[in-house]
Amino acid sequence: MKIAFFVSEATPYAKTGGLADVGGALPQALSKTGTEVKVFLPLYREVRQKGIPLLKKADRVTFSWAGQPETFALWESLEGGASVYFIDKPALYNRDGLYGTPAGDYPDNGPRFAFFSRAALEALKTLDFAPDVLHVHDWQASIALAYLKTAFADDPFFRSTRTLATIHNLAYQGLFEKSVLAETGLPESLYGLDGLEFFEKVSFLKAGILYATALSTVSHRYSQEIQAPEFGCGLDGLLRQRSESLAGILNGVDYGVWDPSVDRDIPADFGPGRIQGKAVCKQALLREFGLPADGKDLPVIGMVTRLAGQKGLDLVVEALGSLFTLGVRLVILGTGEAGIQRSLETARRRFPSFFGLKIGFDEKFARRIYAGSDMFLIPSRYEPCGLTQMYSLKYGTIPVVRATGGLDDSIEEYDPVTGRGNGFKFAEYAAPAMLEAVKNAVRIYGRPEVWGKLRTNAMACDFSWMRAAQEYALLYQSLVGR
Ligand code: ADP
Ligand code: GLC
Repeated sequence: MKIAFFVSEATPYAKTGGLADVGGALPQALSKTGTEVKVFLPLYREVRQKGIPLLKKADRVTFSWAGQPETFALWESLEGGASVYFIDKPALYNRDGLYGTPAGDYPDNGPRFAFFSRAALEALKTLDFAPDVLHVHDWQASIALAYLKTAFADDPFFRSTRTLATIHNLAYQGLFEKSVLAETGLPESLYGLDGLEFFEKVSFLKAGILYATALSTVSHRYSQEIQAPEFGCGLDGLLRQRSESLAGILNGVDYGVWDPSVDRDIPADFGPGRIQGKAVCKQALLREFGLPADGKDLPVIGMVTRLAGQKGLDLVVEALGSLFTLGVRLVILGTGEAGIQRSLETARRRFPSFFGLKIGFDEKFARRIYAGSDMFLIPSRYEPCGLTQMYSLKYGTIPVVRATGGLDDSIEEYDPVTGRGNGFKFAEYAAPAMLEAVKNAVRIYGRPEVWGKLRTNAMACDFSWMRAAQEYALLYQSLVGR
């Protein structure tokens, strides 16, 4: 089975969030199921700066773009692992950010990702790789399906290609002015309510939802949530119509890189049955955040998160005073929206000896937080899958999560009577409900033997990618049979 994977970020090349973890790990897991995968990414500045060796596959691939000849260069990664190719167009991708800067999104993101999608289809022909399944991720790549339907409609090269569109986050839809169609060589006839129109804009994600042979999301629970108005972002009706073709496959963890017994970026390694190193990590973490060392006996709650409305930081800010009366310490690493950043910085000044804050995107620092915290807080308003709860589990850091999407699918409330469960959950999106869950966790933390049992459960959880890869492989097979 030949699969082409169009995705806008993938580790170790370029990352802003969980999509990159999936883009990096899933293709590798798929290749272990006997699937041949070629991954396509834009050649961002970040990729160049990492110094990963690349091989030029084609100097000038030419195609017709909005009536004009356009070119790009095609590179292949020599990193090893999955086969990864890059669409090289410096004017579009050689920039500071993937999607924008702290000041906002790049205004030409529509053409940037339409070009990526269109060029990646062209690259498949250059490589003579006719995929059985083209697997596109999120709005940035979903628009590829609009080109398959138009520019490539009669192209024998793609005659037997089926398509899968995975929605990692329905709230990001890639909405642009109508003029984007003309700018990107897509016919005006695609505009309309039964086409890409969405409240007088053009939705790139809708191309995936309408035209893909099948759809998937990154947890079963989220696949259901997006079919109802609350989390449907105005597309729930359409998703209900495609309900039969909509799967929910929970993401996995690459334990080759997310495992405290092999992680070289944490101060001391540890694992089940040899947990001593975790205390070393905790002390180092308190020091790093400039928090008092007496905190070592108090539970430290960690968060590693994009600062976005989705992530529930408003609840955290609202609850801070009460949270600290429970005798916990809180450390947050995050980057994103300026408004959220400001409210966290204000809170940090109010509670300097309880609250550590680091603004920025720092993979190694993130690992030190997974390793050094006792609990990990994820109060998301919605969460398609969520990877940080799964990473925390492996690092023996107990998730306290809102019961939504993939958080609900992966975390089971700990029951001290039966000894079952791996974390703590709350349902209502409200600060008191969140505090109640933290209180439960703190109560159990106060009983070291019980906490040890819970931590053992957590570290034994297996969310390896193999299960998900097998589910995707079956899904691909069913599409090809269709
Ligand atoms: P989302 O994709 O919605 O941001 P996920 O839980 O799926 O949420 O994935 C988040 C990923 O991004 C994890 O790998 C997490 O460690 C990482 N991450 C998020 N914020 C930061 C940050 N500020 N610094 C380093 N890594 C981060
Ligand atoms: C999105 C979602 C997150 C998910 C990730 C990878 O960024 O917000 O929940 O884990 O995609 O699928």
